[in-house]
Amino acid sequence: MELIVNPVKKLSGEISVPGDKSVSHRAVMLGALARGTTEVENFLMGEDCLATVKCFGALGVQIKGPDKGRLTIQGVGLEGLKEPADVLDAGNSGTTTRLLLGILAGQPFCSILTGDGSLRNRPMARVTKPLSDMGASFLGRQENRFLPLAVRGGTLKPIAFQSPVASAQIKSAVLLAGLFAEGETTVTEPAPSRDHTERMLESFGVQLLRTGNTVTLQGRPQLRGNKVRVPGDISSAAFPLVAAAILPGSDITVTGVGINPTRDGLLEVLRKMGANLELLNIRMQSGEPVADIRVRGTGLKGTEISGELIPRLIDEIPVLAVAAAYAEGTTVIKDAAELKVKESNRIATVAEELKKFGADIEELPDGLIVQGGKPLQGTVAQSYGDHRIAMAMAVAGLGASRPTTIEGAHCVDVSFPGFAHALKFLAVE
Ligand code: S3P
Repeated sequence: MELIVNPVKKLSGEISVPGDKSVSHRAVMLGALARGTTEVENFLMGEDCLATVKCFGALGVQIKGPDKGRLTIQGVGLEGLKEPADVLDAGNSGTTTRLLLGILAGQPFCSILTGDGSLRNRPMARVTKPLSDMGASFLGRQENRFLPLAVRGGTLKPIAFQSPVASAQIKSAVLLAGLFAEGETTVTEPAPSRDHTERMLESFGVQLLRTGNTVTLQGRPQLRGNKVRVPGDISSAAFPLVAAAILPGSDITVTGVGINPTRDGLLEVLRKMGANLELLNIRMQSGEPVADIRVRGTGLKGTEISGELIPRLIDEIPVLAVAAAYAEGTTVIKDAAELKVKESNRIATVAEELKKFGADIEELPDGLIVQGGKPLQGTVAQSYGDHRIAMAMAVAGLGASRPTTIEGAHCVDVSFPGFAHALKFLAVE
C-alpha cells in the first residue's frame, strides 16, 4: 500500500490518538495471569497488540474483543496457561516476543514462538540469557539467538540481574519470569527505561520495591483482575505534534496522551528546540499520568539528544530526526545504538530516507548528525516495513515542496491505525 502525502500550510484542530502500545500489551498479559476478569478500554487495535491477544488465546485464555477498543480477559491465574497446540506468531512485535518469553519460561510445557522477517532478525539472547540463568531452556537459530525459538519452561529460580541495556523489554521479561520463581527477583538497569510493567503489576496487586534503577519483586504473588483504561500513545502523538511544531502557524491539541516520565523525552526535546508546547488537564488514569498536549508551530532550533534521555524517547528518534531537518542549526543524536535493532536499523533507514528529501544527515555508529534548515522536496520514500519510518517520512512530506509517496505504508497499522485519516483531519492546505 502507498500513502500519498501532500504538502500542507499548517495543521489545526484537536484529535486523540490510539491507545498506548506498551500498556495495551501488558494489560493482556497481566489480565491473563490474574485471577478474575480484567476489562480494558481504549486498547490499541494495532497489529502488534492483536498478535499478543492471539498468542494468549492460543495459550488457553478466554478473551472477548477487542471491540471498539474494549477487551475482556478471563484471567487464568499464574498456573492456568495451557500448552499451545501450534507455533505462536508474534508478527512484527518485539514486545510480544520478549515479554512472552519471560512468561513462557515459567510454564511447565513446551512452546514455539516465531514472527515476521524483521522480528526473526532481532536479537533475543538479551532475554534468553537471563531466562536460561533462571532455569528455562531455549532452542533456536544461531546459538538460540533468533526466532523461531522453542521454549521449555519449568521451575524457575529467582535472579538478581544487571541488564547491560536500558530496555523495558528485557526488564519486563525477567520480572514476568520472576512472578513464577519462588523468592526475590531483582533487575537493575543502566538508566531508567519505561516502567509500565511495574506500574501495572502494582495496580494488579503485586508489591514491588523500586529504588533508583533497581526493581525487586517476590515470586508467586496473586494478581487480581482489574480495570485498565489505556492512555493515548505518546509515540503515536509524536507524529502530529512534531508536524505542528515544524509548520509555522499550526495549532493542534492531542487529547488524553500518556505522559509517563519514562516516556516523555519527546516533550523535553521539543521544548529545548524552542517549540511552544503546553500540557493541559493533567490527570491520572489507571496508574499512568495523562494530559492533553497543545503545540503551536513556531519553528525549531537544533539540539543535542543523548545519555539518559535516549530510553525516554527511543521510539521518537525517527520523527525527531525529521524535526531536526526542519530546525535551524545542527542536531546531534548519540548514545542510541539500540536504534540498529528496532523494526529496521533506524540509524540507516532514517538517514537513507531523509537524504531522498534533500536533508543533510550523517550516520554515526550510535546516532545521527542533522544539519537542519535545508528546504526539503517531496520524494518516493520506503518504509522498510517499519511503521515509525513510514510515519516519520509522512511528517517530512507535510513540509516538503512537492507531494511524497510512502511505499509499503501498510505497516503503520502496527501501532497507529487511522494515521492517514488523522493527518488529513488536521491538514490546512
Ligand atoms: C517497549 C520497549 C522499547 C520500545 C518498544 C516497546 C516496551 O523497546 O522500543 O517499542 O513496550 O517495553 P526496548 O525495551 O527494546 O528498548
